[in-house]
Amino acid sequence: KHIFVVNGPNLNLLGTREPDVYGTTTLNDIESMLRTEASQLGLSISFIQSNAEHILIDAIHQARGQADFIIINPAAFTHTSVALRDALLGTGIPFIEVHLSNVHAREPFRRHSYFSDCAKAVICGLGAQGYHFALAAAATQLSNSN
Ligand code: DQA
Repeated sequence: KHIFVVNGPNLNLLGTREPDVYGTTTLNDIESMLRTEASQLGLSISFIQSNAEHILIDAIHQARGQADFIIINPAAFTHTSVALRDALLGTGIPFIEVHLSNVHAREPFRRHSYFSDCAKAVICGLGAQGYHFALAAAATQLSNSN
């Protein structure tokens, strides 16, 4: 089974970007952690981070037939992108939405997500650990599904 991890705009700056909000763990650290955990779970895993909406959309289209589960932090596109939502719905791949920060404890515009009502689950406010829980949950979902 294959897991595809999608990270949206500005997450390439993790580690140095508003560390009081997003922590000091880098995206590289998160991806290495997930790579190790996936191999322990017997899952294959791949990653994309992009600041461009169309690149994320194309990558999600290409995941069709390849990925069994998506873990996505759409970052600011969470609050803006019908197109990215439609890409996920179009592929039908189940996904978990992750946010490092607790989006409900911040500016009101961060409370609305174009993804949450279609997600298997939403994890927010746990920092990098959110990705760890998402991967563990994806593994459970996939082992229950066959
Ligand atoms: C974020 C929350 C978003 O509101 C914000 O635009 C981000 C990161 C998070 O992981 O907490 O870029 O998705």
